[in-house]
Amino acid sequence: MLIELKNITKKFDKQTAVKDLNMKIEKGSITMFIGPSGCGKTTTLKMINRLIEPTSGDILIHGKSVVDMEAVKLRRSIGYVIQEIGLFPHFSVYENIAVVPRLLNWEEKRIKERVDELLHLVTLDPSYAQKYPMQLSGGEQQRVGLARALAADPEILLMDEPFGAIDPINRLKLHDSFLEIQEEIKKTIIFVTHDINEAIKLGDKIAIMNKGTLVQYDETDEILHNPKNEFVENLLGRDRSLKALSLEKTKGFVTHEGYVITGPNDDQGSLREKMKKTRSEQAFILDENGRLLGRKILVTKKTGKQEMIQDSNPVVVDRNNNLVEALSKMLESGEHQLPVVSGRGKFMGVINLSHIFAEVTAAEAKNTIKGA
Ligand SMILES: Nc1ncnc2c1ncn2[C@@H]1O[C@H](COP(=O)(O)OP(=O)(O)OP(=O)(O)O)[C@@H](O)[C@H]1O
Ligand SMILES: [Mg+2]
Repeated sequence: MLIELKNITKKFDKQTAVKDLNMKIEKGSITMFIGPSGCGKTTTLKMINRLIEPTSGDILIHGKSVVDMEAVKLRRSIGYVIQEIGLFPHFSVYENIAVVPRLLNWEEKRIKERVDELLHLVTLDPSYAQKYPMQLSGGEQQRVGLARALAADPEILLMDEPFGAIDPINRLKLHDSFLEIQEEIKKTIIFVTHDINEAIKLGDKIAIMNKGTLVQYDETDEILHNPKNEFVENLLGRDRSLKALSLEKTKGFVTHEGYVITGPNDDQGSLREKMKKTRSEQAFILDENGRLLGRKILVTKKTGKQEMIQDSNPVVVDRNNNLVEALSKMLESGEHQLPVVSGRGKFMGVINLSHIFAEVTAAEAKNTIKGA
């Protein structure tokens, strides 16, 4: 157990913002806090890094009370991404990311290496180091905010509605790269959101708050299948079984059949033979690093003659996309088999419509049995 909140209460004057909160947070997990405005999410987050002191109760990190730690030191060891991105506008991207390492008196060489490493991690080009926040899109600024919070390699990351100000399409992209980054860094993340879909997509566990109290705190799957009361049911909405489907990631459904792999300069004739032999409709073209460059499709013309067509911009599914996202890409593109790629464009295999349907049917059956 990395973080433990014990009977935490916070009162502002007469108002109780957080009431007798108890929870344990595991190392390396993502915990999502969700609940109506004013229910105490930000207050809870700020008590963990002691920007706010609890009125009563205790917070332990690694079994040690945070009250016994020096507040400034504690805060430097916890990454914090705030509600509005909060980059310093007159600092370059480099200087923004370097803030905490500088406070910690790192050598400039070490800082530079760290900035390069973090820009790579959040998939921003190294040339971004010299740009200023206003020259970046909202999503790019958010990536810099994340890089800044990770600069001194903190064990814990607190994120307060980090993607709140970003439009839904870019938010989806950020989610995928966020999960990709977490796979690499495995931090203990506490993440506040207003968006139930975001909570379901990103969270290992969800903590639902209302009026300063914890209503339900469980694994995401458990919350979806066994909401504790009406408040949680309403929060989840009516399309729970579809939401349950969104718990399944594409990467769990990747298969390696029904297609062939080819290089950019491979011989057409033998490729055609290979596709016929394996009954494959598509061949994916990969570069020497395994990145997807495009695909070739074998189409049968009206005359019965087969022809190979090249498509250099195929629709792809990110391996961290959930099944609802993968399904909607299939419906939009009219394809029943799509290539799956990693965040850095590496080809992982394919996902098939029939496999998604099998999963939908299973989920429906599960809910029907429950409802009966
Ligand atoms: N410094 C403060 N002084 C007095 N009251 C405060 C202070 N900070 C927060 N509160 C009150 O405590 C309650 C919880 O606030 P908090 O910021 O934790 O809510 P929240 O769940 O983060 O809301 P939102 O979703 O709008 O960000 C609110 O009623 C708020 O008005
Ligand atoms: Mg808040």
